[in-house]
Amino acid sequence: MKKAVTLGAVLLSISALSVNGYCDVKKGQKINGATEFQEHCASCHPKGGNIVNAKKPLNKKALNANGIRTAKDIVAKMRNPGPGMTKFDEKSVPTVEANAIAEYILKTFK
Ligand code: HEC
Repeated sequence: MKKAVTLGAVLLSISALSVNGYCDVKKGQKINGATEFQEHCASCHPKGGNIVNAKKPLNKKALNANGIRTAKDIVAKMRNPGPGMTKFDEKSVPTVEANAIAEYILKTFK
């Protein structure tokens, strides 16, 4: 009897997990820009900064000064980065994820 209860609890938590997130991301739904940013960008851009090139953080003023205004511009930077930045192609960060990251940056780092 005790075993059955434990199994029930395990199954319940597995289904709760798939409802809340990570399984959905794989299916291409519910992409979370914040999570994607943490995964791919935060190592060099913690809190929207830039630990490699301090003159190029992700706040609006710096982006505008460097000609980056829209989500499209940010995605272009991922596809074709400047010196010191990792290149993110369609394979490593598909367009839907790249757009989500770009929107997150624009609304988060003022
Ligand atoms: C290995 C470190 C590194 C990683 C990882 C990284 N970047 Fe960068 N990023 C840089 C550097 C260095 C620059 C300045 C490059 C230049 O001179 O154009 C930069 C510049 C930028 C800029 C232009 C900032 C400005 O003020 O002009 C944007 C936008 C940007 N990165 C977005 C991203 C996004 C989005 C990701 C994640 C998908 C990412 N970066 C991941 C190092 C990194």
